[in-house]
Amino acid sequence: MHRKQEGSSLGFLALQASIIMCLPFVVCRKSTGPVVIFNFGDSNSDTGGLTAGLGLEAGYPYGRAFFNPPTGRASDGRLVIDFLFNRLPSTAKSGRRREATPPLHHLRILIAKAGHQLKPMLSPSNCCHLLPLLDWYFIETRNLGSGDLEGEGDGNLGGRAMVELQRDGGCGLMCEYLNTHYLSPYLDSLQPNFPNGVNYAICGATTLPRYVPFNLNIQILQYKHFHNRSVELHSKGFKNLVGQEDYKNALYTFDIGQNDLSGSFGALSYAQVIDKIPSFISEIRDAMWDIYLLGGKNFWVHNTGPLGCLPREIAIRNIMNASEYDEYGCIEALNEGAKTFNNQLNALCQQLRSQMKNSTIVYVDIYSIKYDLIANATSYGFKNPLMACCGYGGAPYNYNPEFKLTCLGSDYTVSEEGTSYINWDGTHYTEAANAIIASKILSTHYSTPPLQLDFFCNLANISAG
Ligand SMILES: *[C@@H]1O[C@H](CO)[C@@H](O)[C@H](O)[C@H]1NC(C)=O
Ligand SMILES: *[C@@H]1O[C@H](CO)[C@@H](O)[C@H](O)[C@H]1NC(C)=O
Ligand SMILES: *[C@@H]1O[C@H](CO)[C@@H](O)[C@H](O)[C@H]1NC(C)=O
Ligand SMILES: *[C@@H]1O[C@H](CO)[C@@H](O)[C@H](O)[C@H]1NC(C)=O
Ligand SMILES: *[C@@H]1O[C@H](CO)[C@@H](O)[C@H](O)[C@H]1NC(C)=O
Repeated sequence: MHRKQEGSSLGFLALQASIIMCLPFVVCRKSTGPVVIFNFGDSNSDTGGLTAGLGLEAGYPYGRAFFNPPTGRASDGRLVIDFLFNRLPSTAKSGRRREATPPLHHLRILIAKAGHQLKPMLSPSNCCHLLPLLDWYFIETRNLGSGDLEGEGDGNLGGRAMVELQRDGGCGLMCEYLNTHYLSPYLDSLQPNFPNGVNYAICGATTLPRYVPFNLNIQILQYKHFHNRSVELHSKGFKNLVGQEDYKNALYTFDIGQNDLSGSFGALSYAQVIDKIPSFISEIRDAMWDIYLLGGKNFWVHNTGPLGCLPREIAIRNIMNASEYDEYGCIEALNEGAKTFNNQLNALCQQLRSQMKNSTIVYVDIYSIKYDLIANATSYGFKNPLMACCGYGGAPYNYNPEFKLTCLGSDYTVSEEGTSYINWDGTHYTEAANAIIASKILSTHYSTPPLQLDFFCNLANISAG
């Protein structure tokens, strides 16, 4: 019986082989120290800034899949930025979270669908590159012979393969990982951990208008203030802070623009929104120049996702004319707006590469990653790509514009814990989706130039040691 199941599961894996590739390691060698990261943006990468700054708590079920109690992240668990840059802090409290050590020994692939789990074992040597950051790894495996796997399942699996690193001692391929903690929000007044860098991103942030907390130019002012103070204190002997050299080698990451577009589409005509886009891009240009003039030269810029595929955006518009939707049910005009923004952001990155001497600017096409996830939801093991996991009103979007009836209110309904939803609360992605998005980012297939994240590790040198 087992053999039969095994055979059909392996058949499933073979089917997957067409999308298969190995992920890059994100490793900073101990001798160079972890990379220092300064992040700017909105809820896509806010690791608790709004909560720290305003005291507004998004309670359960936010954070239910990973951080528990919630941390101010707009998701049921980790964000893309958590998956990209961080390993598990050893002070972890959550039941599902593990201690970050001992070293990784071997890998387990789990293919899950609708309650069925397949648990084959895979030795590290079969997969050259994996992402040593998480409990859960989305991988696309290659060259798996039948001898590489053993496991059980019901054979009728469709879904995604996730890999869990098993930390059971011994020293396999993965003895080093990016030695970074979750990025602390700038506004965190309790035990912030800044030697690794700072997260300025705040839920709701836009590029414009200026001087409104916590929009991009405020985030840059906070950065400048932090820069001055930390360099000053560092020179006085406070070693557990970012020093002058770290600023030069740090990676500056941006993920902003979604709220500018969303807000504009709510208030203006399509043509007016398109006309405003250059002013958003100009704010990002100014922000990058400010950083460059203070010595920063490494930039990692995420473009904006398919706005028209967010359940909230679709539900609040209540469009009757089918011609306004694309083949997947997303609002075409909103996606066109996002693409226009992205084309201009890409052009900005190109321009700055030639203007900023010695700079490295990586532009990452988040739009394509997210749109693929939504368009091909089933093959990634997701259902209802346009429906919020947590919200009100049920299908098709499970989103009600009234505050009390959203996931943030008191009358939400939330599906059973699981990984079948892409969208968490109408606007933000689930941890399950974020893990896949991060793994796609790390593949470098969506990056211009296609640099691996660990390129920046080699430059980094943390003073705190
Ligand atoms: C940082 O320090 C420089 C030089 O002392 C000063 O000119 C600048 O105004 C300071 N900026 C901030 C944001 O504190
Ligand atoms: C739907 O949109 C199309 C294209 O914009 C338009 O030609 C048509 O008149 C619209 N139909 C309705 C019922 O509004
Ligand atoms: C660029 O890098 C080179 C080599 O490290 C250095 O000599 C030069 O001053 C740098 N130029 C700028 C504008 O930072
Ligand atoms: C869906 O997946 C197919 C097969 O991998 C790919 O060719 C296609 O581009 C994807 N669709 C989108 C919208 O990304
Ligand atoms: C890295 O740090 C070491 C010791 O703190 C220092 O000697 C070295 O110059 C630094 N290298 C770079 C590239 O910053």
